[in-house]
Amino acid sequence: MNKQHIPVMMIKAIQALNVRDNLDYIDATFGRGGYSQAILDQAKCNLLSIDKDLHVKKYAKQLEKKYKKRFSFFNSNFTELESIIKKNKKSYINGGIVADLGVSSMQLDDPNRGFSFNKDGPLDMRMSGVGITAQELIYSLNEKELSKVLWDYGEETKSRAIAKLIVKERNKELLDTTFKLVKIIKKVKKNDYKKRIHPATKSFQALRIAINQELKSLEGFLKASEKILLPGARLVLITFHSLEDRIVKLFFNKITGNKSNLNRHVPQEKETKKIKFKIINKKPILPDLEEVKKNKRARSAKLRAIERVIV
Ligand SMILES: C[S@@+](CC[C@H](N)C(=O)[O-])C[C@H]1O[C@@H](n2cnc3c(N)ncnc32)[C@H](O)[C@@H]1O
Repeated sequence: MNKQHIPVMMIKAIQALNVRDNLDYIDATFGRGGYSQAILDQAKCNLLSIDKDLHVKKYAKQLEKKYKKRFSFFNSNFTELESIIKKNKKSYINGGIVADLGVSSMQLDDPNRGFSFNKDGPLDMRMSGVGITAQELIYSLNEKELSKVLWDYGEETKSRAIAKLIVKERNKELLDTTFKLVKIIKKVKKNDYKKRIHPATKSFQALRIAINQELKSLEGFLKASEKILLPGARLVLITFHSLEDRIVKLFFNKITGNKSNLNRHVPQEKETKKIKFKIINKKPILPDLEEVKKNKRARSAKLRAIERVIV
């Protein structure tokens, strides 16, 4: 593993996963393999790791060499969880599943991937390298649709003004690089410079979520996980923004029967169903101040965990 790479909340996540000998685990977001390696070192367990980004394969190969049959890797979307474990001749998981969501530092640091507003590169933003690019998305949407993406997935309060200027500028000069987009956003958000976050943070987040269908994938992943976890097995999620944390929180509340934050006036499906999961941590676990100081990306991380109970 590269010394520069610091997986966010790794120790807390491995503890929450409760890694034990002879059980099967899934790391649904392999990245550079930091979590995967820590899981394999924690106990004599088996691990199946998934990532939709083909660039990580070289790191997976290193772990295959070191841990032999205990480790396998699938280059796929984690929504395909059920079919992936079937390929590994399994229908259920008895240890647990962890997902450390979002982009990796490896993706952010490579200007050619187009994820970072701090590096000039093509407007790409595709984790898997397939499908439409951010540039194609920007050109395919009208002003209203573009503004909706920036608002829905980035909660960008200046979404309308940014969309308006993008539409005006994209016809004057080809909008094909991250820095050209940053320039447009900065023009709209010129008074926001003193704020803690970069003016393009929310717009870049929004486009990235749209391109990679991140929220839809997360929902599919949670549903698939619910089906395949055996009693005693855990599901651990690390989220990085309120949109994904809200999806995880509501899903966990629903399947554990936790009434907080649910609309009490609406009859809940769970009331008639037997509860099959319990919450491990009532409040989300946050990174220590020390970690946030060392790694800016950790500042918005939240860890939530549940465990399948015997019914
Ligand atoms: C934050 S990084 C994970 C870092 C990892 N925990 C480590 O220790 O290196 C997130 C990874 O999840 C992958 N990813 C995001 N969404 C995915 C999805 N729907 N299916 C599969 N992989 C996904 C990304 O490609 C990225 O490599």
